[in-house]
Amino acid sequence: MQNFEYYNPVNLVFGEGQIAKLSKLIPTDANVLMVYGGGSIFKNGIHEQVADALKKHTVTEFGGVEPNPRFETLMKAVKEVKEKDIDFILAVGGGSVIDGVKFISAAANYEGDAAEILRKRMRIEDNALPFGTVLTLPATGSEMNSGSVVTIEETHEKLPFGGPALFPQFSICDPKVMASLPTRQVQNGVIDAYTHVLEQYLTYPHDALLQDRIAEGILQTLITVGPEVAKDPSDYKLAANLMWSCTMALNGLIQKGVPTDWATHMIGHELTALYDIDHARTLAIIAPNLYRVMFDSKKEKLAQYGKRVWNIDADTVDDAATQAIEKTVAFFHTMGMDTKLSNYTDDYEKTASFIVNRFEERGWKALGERQNITPDKVKEIVELSY
Ligand code: NZQ
Ligand code: ZN
Repeated sequence: MQNFEYYNPVNLVFGEGQIAKLSKLIPTDANVLMVYGGGSIFKNGIHEQVADALKKHTVTEFGGVEPNPRFETLMKAVKEVKEKDIDFILAVGGGSVIDGVKFISAAANYEGDAAEILRKRMRIEDNALPFGTVLTLPATGSEMNSGSVVTIEETHEKLPFGGPALFPQFSICDPKVMASLPTRQVQNGVIDAYTHVLEQYLTYPHDALLQDRIAEGILQTLITVGPEVAKDPSDYKLAANLMWSCTMALNGLIQKGVPTDWATHMIGHELTALYDIDHARTLAIIAPNLYRVMFDSKKEKLAQYGKRVWNIDADTVDDAATQAIEKTVAFFHTMGMDTKLSNYTDDYEKTASFIVNRFEERGWKALGERQNITPDKVKEIVELSY
């Protein structure tokens, strides 16, 4: 097992009725900016619950953070923070709102052009404004990690950044909030979390036995609850299990001491930046083809995944690994995903070379757990995804 430090200071407050605890989680003398998205919180009663809990607090509201949050919008919130002397931010939303708040928190005290935080992929170690979250959509794990992804609209760049100063102080995860989720968003949540686990698991064999078993447990839980919770997100048992699985998939735990990949996400972010395809759906397009192109590098772990998670009975590693990829694609389809770029756009002829050029400009010439996903491999993966 590789050496590691596991630092995660998030106070995760889970369960029905927990939004009321906001009144105690945020100091009453705080000057709060409450940040939300396109307005779903006004239709499903979440805004009312938050406002009720914060009736003794001074709160300014900032709405309109988009799915795949935009730098340009977030800078308007940064201005608000400065003008109103805000000293605590509350995110009420899904991954986009939470990621947006992480950016606002980092940019609030940043001297200079805040786009540098994204373009230079800065590691934010201090000087960030404290914030908490009320999660409304389980998917990204952003409620319990210190990462964020923000899009610069002007240049269509979707860029990840983060750092230890960007953990939420607390996150309230009430599975009841899921009842109003559209099917598409629940499906996205299942597949985003599933792929997070695969990014940290489908690498090469290692001796971190517990990490593998936890990862397999999350995958199995997602396979069990995913199709059912998409049909009925108001079923508390299903919703609670999905919500906790999504958090556990990306709160740092399963990546400790093991190699990780993340190339599917890096390529997927480009598809969102170019075509505005939902994050999870880009992963469903890319992941299977990445496993096909990188087959020799990943087949031992693919075979282990196939046997332990899908109960595949095969004579050879190659056979088990091939079947594991097919099972994964079938699961993506069950969860309502399209797995070809051409399902979303006719304008894909130059996509592979565009992405490769971008990666080369950024110096991303060796991705993946073995740093063997080179530009020519990226090209092959994207072309296979057409
Ligand atoms: O904006 P509103 O009106 O609230 O509507 C949202 C939005 O349209 C809606 N929604 C959220 N909760 C709802 C609801 N509708 C009804 N009832 C509710 N309870 O759902 C839509 C999508 O929301 P969004 O926050 O965009 O979805 P998600 O949580 O999937 O977040 C995706 C973003 O997170 C990033 C992605 O790249 C993408 O930008 N990621 C962040 C990560 C991280 N910070 O660790 C890791 C991930 O890999 C991912 O990259
Ligand atoms: Zn993701």
